[in-house]
Order: sequence, then C-alpha cells, then structure tokens
Amino acid sequence: MKTRITELLGIRYPIIQGGMMWVGRAEMAAAVSNAGGLGILTALTQPTPADLAREIERCRSMTDKPFGVNLTLLPSINPPPYDEYLGVIIKSGVQVLETAGNNPGKYIARARAAGIKVIHKCVAIRHALKAQALGADAISIDGFECAGHPGEDDVPGLVLIPLAVRTLTIPVIASGGIADGRGLAAALVMGAEGVNMGTRFCATVEAPIHPDAKQALVDASERDTQLIFRTLHNTARVLKNPISDEVVSIERKGGATFEDIRHLVVGVRGRAALETGTNDGIVSAGQCVGLINDVPTCAELIERMVGECRAHLQNACAWAN
Ligand SMILES: Cc1cc2nc3c(=O)[nH]c(=O)nc-3n(C[C@H](O)[C@H](O)[C@H](O)COP(=O)(O)O)c2cc1C
Repeated sequence: MKTRITELLGIRYPIIQGGMMWVGRAEMAAAVSNAGGLGILTALTQPTPADLAREIERCRSMTDKPFGVNLTLLPSINPPPYDEYLGVIIKSGVQVLETAGNNPGKYIARARAAGIKVIHKCVAIRHALKAQALGADAISIDGFECAGHPGEDDVPGLVLIPLAVRTLTIPVIASGGIADGRGLAAALVMGAEGVNMGTRFCATVEAPIHPDAKQALVDASERDTQLIFRTLHNTARVLKNPISDEVVSIERKGGATFEDIRHLVVGVRGRAALETGTNDGIVSAGQCVGLINDVPTCAELIERMVGECRAHLQNACAWAN
C-alpha cells in the first residue's frame, strides 16, 4: 500500500497504533512496527524521562523498523516534565512524534527542528487547522466513537474524516471506530491516507495487558462503552464496568467535582485493572469493541485487515460500476 502516510513514515501499511497509557510499551509498539504498521510508545507511561530513554532502547532492540512516541499534553496541576520527555525523544533518534492534547505548538516546532515527523492527534477541525499551521506533518482525527478523549463536540468519524480531508492540505489519518478491513477501506475511500487504532490493538497477543482484560474487550458489544467526565467538560470514553457506572451515577446527581470521583478514576487503579484483568478501575475503550471477536497477533491482525480491505474495495468498485 502506498499513501502519503506510508511514504512520510517509511512503513509498509498505513496502519498506526495510537499512544495508549499503560499499553504503549516496547512489546506493543515493536510488534506493530514489525508487522508493517507504525507502533507508538507512550511517553507518560514511563515514570521519568530516563525511563523513557530505556524504553526506547528496549523497543529498538525488538525492531529495526520505524516507531514513534506519543506525548499527551493534558492540563495538570503538577504537569509532567514535558520538555525533558521531548528532549529524550529527540536525543534517542526517534523518527515520529505523536502529539495529543492542548497547545502542542512549541513541541511541534522543537521536534520538527530536530527532523522528527509530527502527527498531531485531535478531535476537531479547528484544532487540526491550528496544528497544520503550527507545522504538523499529518493529522490523526479522532471521531466521537474513539477510546479516550473524544472532546465535547460529539462529531463522529463519518463526518469528521471527510471534513478533515476537504479542509487540510497535509495527510489525514482516520482514528476512532476502526477495527477491521472494512474500516480501513472506508477510511481510504473517505480520503484518509491511513488509520490509527487503539482499542483493536489492546486485544492482540502482544498487548502488554492481562489476558482477562483482552477477553473483556472480546466479550463487550458496541453498547459497552460509557462517557465519563462529561460534566467536567473533559469527556472520556471508557469500557463500561462497575467503576465507570459509579462515576456516571455521581456525575448524574449534579454538581460533582473531580474530588468526588478522584478515588475511582486515579491512574494507578486503571493501570491495575489492565494488568490484573479485574474491572476495578477505569479502562479506555472505543465503540469498536463491538467489532472485536478474537485476540490475534499484530501481524495476523494487520495482514487480515489489509486482505479484507482490498477485497471490500474491489466489491465496492464492482457495485459502483
Ligand atoms: C487503553 C487506551 C489508552 C489510551 N491512552 C491514550 C493516551 O495516553 N494518549 C492519547 O493520545 N491517546 C490515548 N488513547 C487513544 C488512542 O491513541 C486512539 O486515539 C484511540 O484509541 C482511537 O480510537 P479506537 O480505540 O476506536 O481505535 C488510548 C486508547 C486506549 C484504548
């Protein structure tokens, strides 16, 4: 497959594994890159910039293919040392940076000055235009279906992706809701030049999470995600479980502050849920869980998606002619 994204990133297939807190470790990223996609490490999963440097080296020992690092820029009372994390990314010779979140300007500029390709991931056309103006090389546009933070506009991919393609001049990567070859084919037909997936890659052999956490994704239907933090205007789409139910019920009472739910949503609890396979914490997941029925290797998944994509594109061409 050849698009501006495969050319930009030096990859065989236009399939990217988006940054994922606690999941985006070397095993995950290297498996995706070895399978012909682009794997991405998640900087903030590593407690310090020095740990990130070691994780990058570990990933490099597992693959000779390009991989990226995600830097998620979230508002915080005690912000992580973003500049130091980026310093490590630059020094380690990583070829691709995925930024997400607020005010990526200075990070995009610094990374590009060091020759790193920057993908900015966002959920709104206005933010995509801003990132393009700031020098991003490509935009991942996340529809409302996505895992993690879909924003507050609630615009799904079927509208957001063609709008992004129409509006931007840099290549667009479709993100959110994609888990199979049909999704890849649809994204390409809409003009996206690649896809970014999160939830689907969690249910793979190499994802560094507990088998029961993977099985929970296989068992879940498209109706098994929930939106938390809506009332705090920081919406997150997560797998529905007793903890997310409790968060939503506290929010529904009205007037809830972050302090009222902090004990339920703390990162250590979410991390433990992924690592032990219990449902005692918040786990990000998108509506495409309804499309996930198995736990293949990353190579099996990617080859299957590419094969299905080609077959579905041919079918659609036959129908259209
Ligand atoms: C478990 C998990 C953790 C995630 N953590 C992050 C994160 O830390 N930073 C980020 O930019 N996106 C994060 N995401 C979002 C993904 O990178 C990607 O944009 C999203 O999953 C795409 O939607 P999909 O799940 O429908 O494929 C996470 C997704 C999942 C499933």
